Amino acid sequence: MKNLRENAPILLFDSGLGGLTVLAELRKLLPQAPVIYAADLAGLPYGEKSEAEVAARVAGLLGRLAERYRPRLACIACNTASTIALGMVRDVLHVPIVGTVPAIKPAAAMTQTGVIGLLGTAATIRQKYVDELEAEFALGKRLIRHAAPELVRAAEEKLRGVTPDPAIFIALTERMRAYEGGEQIDTLVLACTHFPLLEAELAAAFGPGVQMVHGAAGIARRIAHLVEGQPMVREHEDLFVATGPQDPQMAAALAPALSSFGLKRTESL
Ligand code: DGL
Repeated sequence: MKNLRENAPILLFDSGLGGLTVLAELRKLLPQAPVIYAADLAGLPYGEKSEAEVAARVAGLLGRLAERYRPRLACIACNTASTIALGMVRDVLHVPIVGTVPAIKPAAAMTQTGVIGLLGTAATIRQKYVDELEAEFALGKRLIRHAAPELVRAAEEKLRGVTPDPAIFIALTERMRAYEGGEQIDTLVLACTHFPLLEAELAAAFGPGVQMVHGAAGIARRIAHLVEGQPMVREHEDLFVATGPQDPQMAAALAPALSSFGLKRTESL
């Protein structure tokens, strides 16, 4: 990249706080990287919106963020936004873009029973992108897709210090087991960046016979690869940017979690 500023940030974008699972992995690889984490809290949840609405929000917000912060790379740390808008955003932004797609390929390699559960948002699980991944990598397997918006809410609350209600995980396992072939699920794709924040709760509910797979570590490796060799200086504590008016009480409840990810400054978009 020409004239790359050494303090140019890596921009991570999600509808909410799920992309922090990607940031956690990125920190392990690039502890010195300047990062801006942007959450479209005013637009959360994306999973319940139409394709047109998600595409318009994501393209518009990333355009504004890129203009304001001039990142060296942007990562759409959200399966819903990526499966809907990745191609479009790549066409309009002059910044390398890394997306997040459901980890169907590794899951297909891991399953012994041939039955994979895919947990995502309602918008993600109906995407053609997912049909294509299934056709390419999971032919001959059974992929059981399920929308779990309650997990998005629970993950957001957990980061604000609220313990998730165990009943939601029990209900979810019962629902997954009730699908045809569901008793044989041995691999679960966490196809929403919020869900690894609940991996312990999900593992406890599904039991030791079910392994979980998600893309956070792979996305972090991809980002690290793309910025390899670039000058990089982290001059300040990293920045959390959110859309919409922030409820001061909610913001205060979230501050310790953000701080644990190195996000110690906040701004509104
Ligand atoms: N974190 C987003 C994802 O990976 C979804 C949450 C939402 O519904 O906005 O799909």
